Amino acid sequence: MLLEIRNLSVWYGKALALEDVSLSIGAGEFVAVLGPNGAGKSTLLKAISRMQPSSGVLEFRGASLQGVPAHAVVGQGICHCPEGRRLFPELTVLKNLMLGAYLRRDAAVVAADLDRVYGLFPILKERAPQVVGTLSGGQQQMVAIGRALMGKPALLLLDEPSVGIAHRLKIEIFDAIKRIQKSGTAILMAEQDAQSALRIADRAYVLEHGRIGREGTSAELGADDYIRQAYLGVA
Ligand SMILES: Nc1ncnc2c1ncn2[C@@H]1O[C@H](COP(=O)(O)OP(=O)(O)OP(=O)(O)O)[C@@H](O)[C@H]1O
Ligand SMILES: [Mg+2]
Repeated sequence: MLLEIRNLSVWYGKALALEDVSLSIGAGEFVAVLGPNGAGKSTLLKAISRMQPSSGVLEFRGASLQGVPAHAVVGQGICHCPEGRRLFPELTVLKNLMLGAYLRRDAAVVAADLDRVYGLFPILKERAPQVVGTLSGGQQQMVAIGRALMGKPALLLLDEPSVGIAHRLKIEIFDAIKRIQKSGTAILMAEQDAQSALRIADRAYVLEHGRIGREGTSAELGADDYIRQAYLGVA
């Protein structure tokens, strides 16, 4: 397994936000985490990238991440595209993208990765010198995903990449995410839009009140009566 999580718990003060969560991701796999507002999706991704302390087993490529500081996680091959994008609006598209490669010294490969990001999102090449604050929400999301890719992740964590984005751009973004997986990058994507997520992910976990309620392949969950009623709007 690329990522192995067992009995992971996270407390915010006296509030338990994740309780005994177990989950795994194989190399190159695309896994979605579904669940309503406040379920703990972002908390789970933050625990993996060590932005949030947790208890339990958290292993990447067979070695524990517990004790690895957040700033060292990128160097291990995990890049986090956070909720709300967290870009630098006053910097250009190019500068924001290059910030994702700040740890890297391999200039030629960085240039090739920049070309790969431009291949996924051609509009970003056009807008390279433009300051990010003037882009649309969907374009900013493309920058955020592109920046995470510039860290050359083996595992890409995506936190609600489609939230607040117009339908057409949303389709384009999900399509690009699928292509990222096909090029060999494993993906863990938190997403409230269960229908879109199950269309592109291999498997999914459903998080409710900090616990994994259901899990299965996208086909299994798409056929599950409870999932259909609670998440897919099918009566
Ligand atoms: N920094 C924090 N301090 C205290 N409580 C927090 C903090 N961050 C999150 N929480 C609480 O932990 C729970 C899980 O929050 P989290 O952000 O992980 O949910 P989520 O599934 O990502 O929701 P959303 O879909 O709205 O983004 C919520 O009850 C939230 O209020
Ligand atoms: Mg969230």
